[in-house]
Amino acid sequence: MLKLLTGALSVEQVQIPIADLPPQLDGLRLVQLSDFHFDGIRLSSAMLDQAIATCNAAQPDLILLTGDFITDNPQPIHNLAPRLQALTSRSGTFAVLGNHDIRYQHSRAEVAQALQAVGVEVLWNQVVYPVGSGLAIVGLADYWSSEFDPAAVLNAIPATTPRLVLSHNPDTAEILQRWRVDLQLSGHTHGGQVYFPGIGNMAHHVSAFYRGLPKPAKRWIPLLKACASTMKHWEWAQGLHHFGTNQLYVNRGLGTYLPGRINCPPEVTVITLVRSAATHPAP
Ligand SMILES: [Fe+2]
Repeated sequence: MLKLLTGALSVEQVQIPIADLPPQLDGLRLVQLSDFHFDGIRLSSAMLDQAIATCNAAQPDLILLTGDFITDNPQPIHNLAPRLQALTSRSGTFAVLGNHDIRYQHSRAEVAQALQAVGVEVLWNQVVYPVGSGLAIVGLADYWSSEFDPAAVLNAIPATTPRLVLSHNPDTAEILQRWRVDLQLSGHTHGGQVYFPGIGNMAHHVSAFYRGLPKPAKRWIPLLKACASTMKHWEWAQGLHHFGTNQLYVNRGLGTYLPGRINCPPEVTVITLVRSAATHPAP
């Protein structure tokens, strides 16, 4: 297997205040895993095993998977899904699909069915209440599919009920500002993969450079185009971001693309929800 520079797996511990969180859900523990790209090249079996063990050691209430299980052909999902069966939690594993999981016409059904078969519930513009009616878990269709449709599902949730929203692509946070989203969990960016302190993630700079180029020049640099078209808001490439009362957390993912990662290690996120003193303002 091609050995990509990734850095050691990093565990990020995050505490998120949630308005209107019922007292019995105070301290609810979630683990987020994202962007596996488990195709024999971009994520090693050893690191996948380590991520699963780290997740289980956190003894989560819920496990949330935010897409890009595979890269191109969906076949590798049949290697990944049985391994994900080892994930353990009190109230279940929930997932959304990413742009790579729906790349070909047959991909979406093949990836979703393989995950469902091992007990991972795949959400596509759906809401579930695995820890009770006091917390909604929403999973959206991928932003780049023609079916991304947050309105119906978010409008169906009572205004006073806090909600987590799984959405693979963090650019959706811009649209989701129209709704109450206590916490959006996303991936897709791999954190930008190359990060220099004081400078930031290189994908952000490369994209800004590309967008500033005159049109004829753009045609000659497809790699820069790929970077610029992956994300609009590269400044949200990792970590926690706030939009009024909405919160977005972006996981750096587990899989790695060329040229590898610098100062941007693969991530397992352990999130603890705590009751916020504030109640959410009425819409
Ligand atoms: Fe993606």
